[in-house]
Amino acid sequence: MKTAIIGAGNMGGAIARGLAHGNYIDAGRITVSNPSNEKLEKLKLECPAIRTTNDNKEAAADADIVIIAVKPHKVAEVLTPLHLRHPQILISVAAGLTFEDLAHYVDPEMPIFRVIPNTAISESTSMTLVAARNASDKQIETILNLFNDMGLSMLIDEKLFAAATSLTSCGIAYLLKYVQAAMQAGTELGIKPKDAMKMVAQTMKGAAQLLLNNEDTHPALEIEKVTTPGGITIKGVNSLEHDGFTSAIIKALKASM
Ligand SMILES: NC(=O)c1ccc[n+]([C@@H]2O[C@H](COP(=O)([O-])OP(=O)(O)OC[C@H]3O[C@@H](n4cnc5c(N)ncnc54)[C@H](OP(=O)(O)O)[C@@H]3O)[C@@H](O)[C@H]2O)c1
Repeated sequence: MKTAIIGAGNMGGAIARGLAHGNYIDAGRITVSNPSNEKLEKLKLECPAIRTTNDNKEAAADADIVIIAVKPHKVAEVLTPLHLRHPQILISVAAGLTFEDLAHYVDPEMPIFRVIPNTAISESTSMTLVAARNASDKQIETILNLFNDMGLSMLIDEKLFAAATSLTSCGIAYLLKYVQAAMQAGTELGIKPKDAMKMVAQTMKGAAQLLLNNEDTHPALEIEKVTTPGGITIKGVNSLEHDGFTSAIIKALKASM
């Protein structure tokens, strides 16, 4: 599949690198378009097989998939002159622009995907939310596979996007706040901050793997495994609850919508 990425900024650049290093698309079939050259040159240095241009029309003309990765307020002026149509597939990563909005700038019958990766896409470990309109099962499978190459993708209803981005895009900040707090505790207890950071980050990665690698598990089951009756871990868990941990997380995620 020929893929055009319009916009080589944080998100467009990360997607280009992820796709070029992944297994799903041949890097030589990716064209990235951006008005200024600096980001394109950097990209080319890292992934020489990728094609680059300053001309959006040239990038999109014979592309099977067009990924639009410009700021939301630029999407209309960038998409409209491209005259994208079925059977091309449009993927928009622009936050806040709905299918209704996007359909004004392209053939409204064409398959459109809204995709929201999180910043971990730069490490190919993004949690990527995907919603589809006018797309066949095969096209949905293709797009999910494309983004599975850069982490884990999940198809959801467009109306759940705000709630889900609170968990995934804003969620990264909440998890990092936990790491920061645990580092402060570790430092007070005599551990070097950098060592504490690695200890907590790896522990967080381990907790995530326990859940992601075992279909039948649940946080409560994993917590039960480490909370011996009368032991030290349950004392800490209960202390968190006395201080309103669960309530604080629920309030924060709802505030992020
Ligand atoms: N960053 C994130 O974590 C994140 C997460 C989810 C979704 N998103 C979405 O991703 C999109 C891009 O965000 P970003 O953070 O990657 O922004 P960004 O770093 O500012 O990148 C935007 C890129 O678009 C280029 N551009 C501007 N005008 C253009 C045009 N007419 N044709 C082609 N390219 C053009 C800019 O080039 P110049 O710099 O040369 O002008 C820039 O490289 C946004 O819609 C945002 O909502 C971002």
